Amino acid sequence: MSTRFSKRHRVSDRPLSDLQETLPKTPVPKTPLPQTPLPKTLAEAAIRCLLTADAVEKARVTREMAAAWRSGAIAEIGDMPVPDRPGRPDRPRLLPPGQVPKRKITRGVQGRTALLHALAHIELNAVDLAWDLAVRFPDAGMPRDFHSDWVQVADDEARHFLMLEGRLNALGARYGDLDAHDGLWESAMGTAGDLLARLAIVPMVLEARGLDVTPQMIGKLEAAEDLESAKVLSIIYRDEIAHVAAGRRWFGYEADRRGLDHASTWRNLVKTHFKGQLKPPFNDEARLEAGLTRDFYGFAEEL
Ligand SMILES: [Fe+2]
Ligand SMILES: [Fe+2]
Repeated sequence: MSTRFSKRHRVSDRPLSDLQETLPKTPVPKTPLPQTPLPKTLAEAAIRCLLTADAVEKARVTREMAAAWRSGAIAEIGDMPVPDRPGRPDRPRLLPPGQVPKRKITRGVQGRTALLHALAHIELNAVDLAWDLAVRFPDAGMPRDFHSDWVQVADDEARHFLMLEGRLNALGARYGDLDAHDGLWESAMGTAGDLLARLAIVPMVLEARGLDVTPQMIGKLEAAEDLESAKVLSIIYRDEIAHVAAGRRWFGYEADRRGLDHASTWRNLVKTHFKGQLKPPFNDEARLEAGLTRDFYGFAEEL
């Protein structure tokens, strides 16, 4: 007992400055260090988000990486092979499109939960699709603004997912409780080899479809007196117009570089790469706001 005390005593007797001189000089961080160091490139950041399986964590990491890109903490674009499939949680179970049951939106919780769950699943896919588009085509030599736009889209989609997850939680549910479909990622991967085709399909077909159907959903939620969910969908709706507009803008940029006409090239790419049908009625007003004019899609009304 006395030996232990005397050892301790000797150490504590030495002046603190003596002890400090024997320690390596390391700066004391002002804020706690992040658990994982920041990626060095945008490609690495995107892949980290893509491979994160947990949905809420994927959204959280996406928001963190997007902020790091905006602040310049991640500055290089980089070039790394992008995975063909993103990380996904064990639940929801993924069914072929069309096999996921649809429910009516009523004041009852079931229908609204099903709608919010389906939308959360779309947003989660949209996070991955935006990251994929931001870094899959480094050889295309797109301007920095192109990458920044898709990082911003990934950030928006992550925010959308978290808002919808918040609404699900308020209704006593969470993402993963119901089945979902795997159609979105599949239809996007068909264009992994061509930037112009990817822009034609993901923002200008899939996201534009969201503009057609969302106002009706907002109306149904308002009728069911779920004003909180209606508000979330209204925010998403405004953001999605900007996403379609970004797709339209970069589609035009790339088509010009290749010396191609915008509308006829888009129609040909849709015929080749989009397995489904363009479904009227179209939201002409929102599409126009995004720069997507009827000379692109109007033909689908005559089919
Ligand atoms: Fe979204
Ligand atoms: Fe979007």
